[in-house]
Amino acid sequence: MDSIITETAVSEIVWTQVGSIDDIPVLGSRVVRTPGGDIALFRTAADEVFALEDACPHKRGPLSQGIVHGRRVTCPLHNWVIELATGEAVAPDEGRTGHVPVRVEGRSVSLALGEAKLSRGGCRKACGHV
Ligand code: FES
Repeated sequence: MDSIITETAVSEIVWTQVGSIDDIPVLGSRVVRTPGGDIALFRTAADEVFALEDACPHKRGPLSQGIVHGRRVTCPLHNWVIELATGEAVAPDEGRTGHVPVRVEGRSVSLALGEAKLSRGGCRKACGHV
């Protein structure tokens, strides 16, 4: 009897190392410049790292200059609150900024720049942030 081999296409995520978690202040941020635009890396008090397009979904304010609290950042321009894990604006505001998958190994931080392309589609499958 012949066996059937099924090939499954698995998309490859290319991780780009962008520095150490120690380069990001606790409850602060750091900007990574990419050909696709600036990405803001945020570090929470619990040492979680998130990456968002450095542009608020309201009027593109620089989220990297916002205030990090819990797993959210407040935009410095008009105080919208954005979820770091998803880029979604917290109600009653509506909108979403691009979310880039992040991987932290030891102290090393990497971004899936090719996967995200700063899309507003999020990364629910790539990094587990939901
Ligand atoms: S630009 Fe961020 S709240 Fe207006």
